[in-house]
Amino acid sequence: MIPPKSILLSRVEGLRQIPTIPAVLQPLLRYLELPTEQLDVRKITDMIAQDKSLAAQCLQMANSPLFGKWQKVESLKDAIVGLGIQRVSDIAMSCGVLNLLPKDLGSINPVAFWEHSLGCALVCRHFARKISYKDPSKAYLAGLLHDIGIVVNLWVLPAEFRTAFELARAEGIPLNEAEQRTLGFTHCESGRLLAERWGLAPDLRETVSLHHTTYESAEHAGLIALVELSDLLCRMSGLNHGYIEKREINLLKQTGIAVLSRRHPDLKDLDWARLTFELESYMDEVHSLVHAIYRK
Ligand SMILES: [Fe+2]
Ligand SMILES: [Fe+2]
Repeated sequence: MIPPKSILLSRVEGLRQIPTIPAVLQPLLRYLELPTEQLDVRKITDMIAQDKSLAAQCLQMANSPLFGKWQKVESLKDAIVGLGIQRVSDIAMSCGVLNLLPKDLGSINPVAFWEHSLGCALVCRHFARKISYKDPSKAYLAGLLHDIGIVVNLWVLPAEFRTAFELARAEGIPLNEAEQRTLGFTHCESGRLLAERWGLAPDLRETVSLHHTTYESAEHAGLIALVELSDLLCRMSGLNHGYIEKREINLLKQTGIAVLSRRHPDLKDLDWARLTFELESYMDEVHSLVHAIYRK
């Protein structure tokens, strides 16, 4: 028997067992809110280097073709020089969050979860560049973190969340619908609490809490729209949550298209078939990267 919503929510609000985001990433995230011209390579290298395992994972990821490998990257400084500050910061965040899930997830596959998140981050950044969105790196972070509410649910309500997940998988419905039916709320709500606890920037907080809801009038609707569409593209492809959703989706009818069309005239020239093809090319690489990092 699943307890009522109020009891579940009070457990979520406690956020007791949830690991914190790696200590070095909090200041890094805050530092990255500065204008790019004020950022100092040495300072960022020092911040990441404080956490040895994080630094090692960053190097592994920096050498992946997904991040535009230019030659073998042997040190964090090389990585920053070769890939750029924003790209290395994206990598550090990805490695940092990849370690956040509990060890025993029962029937839920953690690799699929991170493949979805990392895939969504990459698609979101790619999409942002195609439509000349002002901050592709922010789009990456928003894609990476959009489903952190699932991390909360897995730590705080493992049995109840598994029931929701099994329902979603059995009926081939979106996870948020199954959560709403089973728990009475979704990972958007759980994610909002964690995003506040972590002190994420307001645009990221809004994306985490509104990406499955009505958001047209939200302050950061453009960013949420990028995430909504990238999330759908991933869920309709091999970068889903580990099951196929049984429904037809017309991407062009989604809220995100209307929201982005008003802000980005380039959207009307976007070649969707090509974007989907490019997404396919990410899949194998996302798969091997997440396996390599997660299995350590
Ligand atoms: Fe979601
Ligand atoms: Fe998602």
